[in-house]
Amino acid sequence: MRLDALLFSQGFGTRRLCTGLIERGLVAVAGQVVTEPATEFEPAGLRFSVQGEAWAYHERAYLMLHKPAGYECSQRPSAWPSVYTLLPGPLRQRPTPGKVQGVQAVGRLDQDTTGLLLLSDDGAFIHRMNSPRHRVPKVYEVGLKHAMDERDLGRLRAGVVLHDDPAPVRAAACELVAPTQLRLTLTEGKYHQVKRMVAALGNRVESLHRGRIGDLVLPFDLAPGQWRWLTAADLAALRPSAG
Ligand code: URA
Repeated sequence: MRLDALLFSQGFGTRRLCTGLIERGLVAVAGQVVTEPATEFEPAGLRFSVQGEAWAYHERAYLMLHKPAGYECSQRPSAWPSVYTLLPGPLRQRPTPGKVQGVQAVGRLDQDTTGLLLLSDDGAFIHRMNSPRHRVPKVYEVGLKHAMDERDLGRLRAGVVLHDDPAPVRAAACELVAPTQLRLTLTEGKYHQVKRMVAALGNRVESLHRGRIGDLVLPFDLAPGQWRWLTAADLAALRPSAG
């Protein structure tokens, strides 16, 4: 692939801008400055730098972000900063086949929810991870206002009715880690689902953290606000057969 096309595919701006970056000597491949935009490189696994920032070529982007509290999962947030501001520019500008540019969050977490958020520019992946049909388990650590008991857990497993839908929603699994600390697994992602399920029992969510999706656990060394590329092992941990 030509270097200018490669830079463009990774989100470094318009084709003209990418050509300019190369011609001005701001792009290096394997430590060597390359000033000819038409120079061909094998993109798979290519490492390069743009204005001193190291980057690795990824045909499609699959990332995890440790979402901190106080951020909205929206491109146009209303009251809080967007989670997308936590990502470097190229990830937000990558050209994608659809109308929307850049990576998109795989489902949404509320402003005050923390934890594992996946982002990608692969529409089929986003659909698969979100679709209730694929039943990808999402595990939430829920801090409760009032203590729960076995009867409450039984109701969550049997299914509770939310006010906007007569079909009961069930917990795929749930357990009490402490009297006011619930571990809840869901395989669908309705709006405010955890908070509404807990509210249906007359209780209230005080804190909400997503620690796992499929078999992919939020790494303990990924601090709130940090992101990283998903590895092949991470992607395998998200496949239904692994879950
Ligand atoms: N359920 C909720 O209520 N909020 C979230 O952020 C995620 C799941």
